[in-house]
Amino acid sequence: MILVTGGAGYIGCVLVGELLAKGESVRLYDKLYFGDAGLNKYREKVDMVQGDLRYFDPKALDGIDSVIHLAGLSNDPTAEFNPKANHEMNTVATGVLAKACKERGIKRFTFASTCSIYDRGLFAEDILYNEDSEVAPRAAYAVSNYEAEKILLEMCDEKFCPVILRQGTVYGFSPRMRYDLVVNTFLRDAITKGALTVHCGGEMWRPLVDVSDVAKAHICCVEAPEEKVRGQIFNLSFKNYRILELAHWVREALKDRLELEINVDYSHYKARSYRVCAQKIETVLGFKPIVPVKESVENMIQKIYEYGYTDFLHPRYYNIEWMTLLYQMEQTLAKIGSVF
Ligand SMILES: NC(=O)c1ccc[n+]([C@@H]2O[C@H](COP(=O)([O-])OP(=O)(O)OC[C@H]3O[C@@H](n4cnc5c(N)ncnc54)[C@H](O)[C@@H]3O)[C@@H](O)[C@H]2O)c1
Repeated sequence: MILVTGGAGYIGCVLVGELLAKGESVRLYDKLYFGDAGLNKYREKVDMVQGDLRYFDPKALDGIDSVIHLAGLSNDPTAEFNPKANHEMNTVATGVLAKACKERGIKRFTFASTCSIYDRGLFAEDILYNEDSEVAPRAAYAVSNYEAEKILLEMCDEKFCPVILRQGTVYGFSPRMRYDLVVNTFLRDAITKGALTVHCGGEMWRPLVDVSDVAKAHICCVEAPEEKVRGQIFNLSFKNYRILELAHWVREALKDRLELEINVDYSHYKARSYRVCAQKIETVLGFKPIVPVKESVENMIQKIYEYGYTDFLHPRYYNIEWMTLLYQMEQTLAKIGSVF
């Protein structure tokens, strides 16, 4: 049985579908910040443990053969909203979970890290980073992931086989949707406003990858021979895109449905920008992401129109908005008690 932490999240809900389709038994461990509606289709087929990783009960590892670790605060704004919780969840809890796995003889452990570890800002030297490049993460989110990577690599030995996937920014449809990721945000703006705005002239580079390719990459790393993956870091990206190019692909994908205005804003130049080389995972494991942005956007459009997924502006789809709301509600409820 495979344990997927953060299995009710954006990537998790796609990954669960892929694992079940392969006949795997799946247990999920998730705090359910965003609810579990994304798992509706799989409810009867998975074992669900609701809980916060910071207070992890190792009983959730009973019967588990390998772990895919996705849980945590998953972007810059939420990490900065509460840096202490971010450190506890993304770094400390990852170490605690890994230690519990190692003690129980659960060897294979994939970790959803991030390419934003490479970010040095728009005006840094424009180089192609690979897994051996020196890094100096600055933002709380990137630092917490990098620290977690280091803990996992220190624990790596004959008895424990961590594999780190430094994922590019993800795009594409998931039953638990996020519209706070650049391509998905552009699609939302295109449909709701008929216009989208590209900041900093759209010059920034980003490695990007479709959500189904991310799910498949984790499965590949779980199934790969141990000697190929133990203690390895793999960048995961379909391609490096400039942000302006992404706007172009969204317009292309929508061209039969609507006219899209692209506004380029040059008013400020503070943005993340980095390019990565993602060749290693193909060379070592023969794994290559296959879904380009345009195809992924077409798939999202089809799902949106076919199933009427039109509540784009619900705060649940924007991690920082949702977390802020939850926090405010928590404060209010602490004062007023129950709502009625
Ligand atoms: N989406 C991306 O573009 C992207 C890019 C690089 C890396 N990642 C990493 O991949 C992972 C999954 O990302 P996602 O887009 O699915 O994010 P998400 O926010 O949609 O899902 C994260 C899930 O983890 C759960 N969670 C958060 N803190 C928890 C805790 N303390 N205990 C238990 N569960 C907790 C949440 O409830 C949620 O279901 C994250 O670790 C993220 O940092 C994501």
